[in-house]
Parts: sequence; C-alpha cells; structure tokens
Amino acid sequence: MTKLFNTLFSIVVASVTGVAQAQAPAKAPTAAQAAAQLKAAVSIDAKVATCVGCHGIKGYQASFPEVYKVPKIAGQSARYIASALTEYKQGNRRHPTMRSVAATLSEKDITEIAAHYEALGKDPAVTLPATADKAPDPQVAALLQKAACVSCHGANFAKPIDPSYPKIAGQHADYLFVALKAYKADNNPSVGRTNGVMGAIAKQFSNAELKALAAYVGSLEGDLKTVPDRKFR
Ligand code: HEC
Ligand code: HEC
Repeated sequence: MTKLFNTLFSIVVASVTGVAQAQAPAKAPTAAQAAAQLKAAVSIDAKVATCVGCHGIKGYQASFPEVYKVPKIAGQSARYIASALTEYKQGNRRHPTMRSVAATLSEKDITEIAAHYEALGKDPAVTLPATADKAPDPQVAALLQKAACVSCHGANFAKPIDPSYPKIAGQHADYLFVALKAYKADNNPSVGRTNGVMGAIAKQFSNAELKALAAYVGSLEGDLKTVPDRKFR
C-alpha cells in the first residue's frame, strides 16, 4: 500500500508540476490531497490528449481552409484560450475541427485546459522586450498605424491590454494570415469568424496587406510555443 501510494505520489508530482507551481504548495500534500491532485492530473491529461495530436506537434499543418501551421497555444493567456474555445463552441468561429472539439468541452474543462496551456508555456527565465524586437519596414509601419494594432495587442504584440485579447508575437505567420482573413468572412456559415472588433479592422485591409502584417508579427519574439506532450519529450 505504501509502495502504491509512493508510486501514485511520484506520478502526481511528475504530472502536475505545471499546475502545482502556480499554487505553490508549501509542504507535501496529504494522502487526500494527493488523491485529489492525481484525479485532476489524470483528467487534465485525458482532456488534452486529443489536443496534443495537433497542438503538441511542432510544425503540424492543418489543411482547411488552406494549408497553414496549427497555432501555438502554450504560453497564450488562459483568458484568451478560454474565450477562443467558447467562440468555437458557440459557432462564432466556424473552423469545423475546432468547433467539434470545443463542442465536447464543458465550461469547467475549458477553464482547466486554458490554465494548463498558459502554464505549459511559461518560462520565468525569459523576459520579453517591452517593445517589438524588430522595427517594421515603412509599408508595414503604416499598416500598423492605420489600425492602431499596438493599442490592443501591446507594444511588443505579446502584452495585450486585456488578458482576453490574444498575444500574437511569434505566432506562426501563416496561421495569423488565415486568422486575419477569417475575420473578413463574418457571414459565411462554414468558414470565418464573427468578431465585432477584428471584423471591422480586417476589412480595412487587402489580403496582401494582411499577409504583410502577419509576416511581421509572426517574425517577432514572443512567448507562444508548441510544447510536445510530456510522453514524447
Ligand atoms: C485535428 C487538429 C486539432 C485538434 C485535435 C485540436 N485543435 Fe485546436 N486548432 C486546430 C486548428 C487547425 C486551429 C486553427 C483554427 C482556425 O483557423 O480558427 C486551432 C485553433 C485552436 C485555438 C485558437 C488559437 C488562437 O490563437 O486563437 C485554441 C485555443 C485551440 N485550438 C485549442 C485546442 C484544444 C484545447 C484542443 C483539445 C481539447 C484542440 N485545440 C484540439 C487544430 C486542432
Ligand atoms: C480594439 C482592439 C484591437 C485592435 C486595435 C486590434 N486587435 Fe487584433 N484582436 C483583438 C481581439 C479582441 C481579438 C480576439 C478576437 C476573437 O475573439 O476572435 C483579436 C484577434 C486578433 C488576431 C487573431 C489571433 C489568433 O490567435 O487567432 C490577430 C492575428 C490580430 N488580432 C491581429 C491584429 C492586427 C494585425 C491589428 C492591427 C491591424 C489588430 N489585431 C488590431 C483586438 C484588437
């Protein structure tokens, strides 16, 4: 029994580090706490098991509505991840795979998964520069100015004014381009995204301009990552 408990305990310690760090337990948990943690750990693993098949593989590509890399979600803010999942669930974002994934998640699942991915990308050793680490060329500078992108996404594009807004610095440029175009398609039942704020912004730009914006933002230093599943690390 003691041996079993020790084994369980080491699994708990091995598998909940990301979550446990945030709560910083001062001393070893009681058996009841360990059991509760294990249950939580097992369920978060089970909950993200499907996600890692796409979001946990570096360079993994999606093919709808065109070929682009699956977005990095580790290190994204939990509030934004939760908001994005809710948008898929409610159909305001119409990407079919993510809609069907999000449809299976309860509100509680969404909160737990969002916290998991925020913690997964955290690297206390890295401090991003307060402003973008590269200056845009004059054409991109004018586009950024036109829609005041930094006023919401932050001067380094990684510190949005509200945690429910996305960090976009260093996100895959091909995904950013697809996302920006999606906001223009706000009344198509099978593709696109309905969002009052980004819809109005994206429609001010041609696709070539959105591509230039996406290339610049994607080239910046950020704290978004693709973190492979711990089983494969
Ligand atoms: C079959 C591949 C696949 C699976 C499985 C999958 N995703 Fe996704 N995910 C995608 C793709 C592709 C997108 C981009 C969709 C779009 O263009 O809106 C995406 C988008 C997202 C976004 C929005 C990112 C952003 O920057 O706005 C979040 C959050 C997300 N997924 C979380 C999850 C979670 C959590 C799971 C597991 C419960 C999961 N995904 C499972 C492929 C997948
Ligand atoms: C008034 C605030 C505001 C401004 C200005 C703004 N954004 Fe956004 N942006 C948002 C919000 C809020 C979202 C999340 C929308 C959603 O839930 O789909 C978003 C989403 C995005 C996304 C999708 C990210 C993802 O991971 O899917 C991209 C890309 C983006 N913005 C780029 C830009 C660019 C480039 C500009 C300037 C041309 C800009 N934004 C200006 C608020 C803003």
